[in-house]
Amino acid sequence: MTISTTDLLAGLRWRYAVKAFDASRSIPSDTWDALEQTLVLTPSSYGLQPWKFLVIKDVALKAELRPHSWNQSQITDCSHLVVLLAKRSIDSSDLERLIEATARTRSIEAAGLEGYKAMMQRDLVEGPRSQTIGTWASNQVYISLGNLMTAAALLGVDTCPIEGFSPPDYDRILGLENSPYRSSVVCACGYRSADDKYAPLAKVRYPISELIEHR
Ligand SMILES: Cc1cc2nc3c(=O)[nH]c(=O)nc-3n(C[C@H](O)[C@H](O)[C@H](O)COP(=O)(O)O)c2cc1C
Repeated sequence: MTISTTDLLAGLRWRYAVKAFDASRSIPSDTWDALEQTLVLTPSSYGLQPWKFLVIKDVALKAELRPHSWNQSQITDCSHLVVLLAKRSIDSSDLERLIEATARTRSIEAAGLEGYKAMMQRDLVEGPRSQTIGTWASNQVYISLGNLMTAAALLGVDTCPIEGFSPPDYDRILGLENSPYRSSVVCACGYRSADDKYAPLAKVRYPISELIEHR
């Protein structure tokens, strides 16, 4: 399956960071299901999927989060608010979980994956990267953010990525403090308001000649 380059670029140009959502519109469930699957299908380093995604539709909960999100209206006016969570630590049980899932899914012996597991152990659990594993996990989460925004645009769904929020307050309100997960970034999804004055603004992007170098 392919789409044309024209359609791809039209979709990417149609997307912008929505400042005002139409609070009366909600994303149909079949469209939303595809976007949830987009999150699940996101690739991650080693395939470890060090994430979870909280999908919030509850009006009262969105209202509670808004003051901890620079009071941005997208939090309450969007249809589906996604809080993307990064796993704050990786230990051998995470590696075991992946090995078991791989063996089960592909009907192979887990023993044949011992080398792969040892490589992950040396790199992420025992190596220097273990010191900054929260950052590593958050990097993976941002791949899912990009995937979500692009897929949404191709389905005609608007988004606004949001870093303007307080992760500790989100973690407290969402009951994450005693969990292995931490709020990393937020994505509001829905439909743009007809009078969002940001919608017609030209995209500010540096020239392709400055950003892409061929060697
Ligand atoms: C990770 C990330 C965090 C962002 N956080 C916010 C935010 O909190 N509020 C907001 O209105 N826009 C936010 N933006 C939107 C950017 O300002 C916007 O994507 C950028 O200016 C490019 O414009 P465009 O997305 O409309 O093309 C964020 C964008 C990214 C990628």
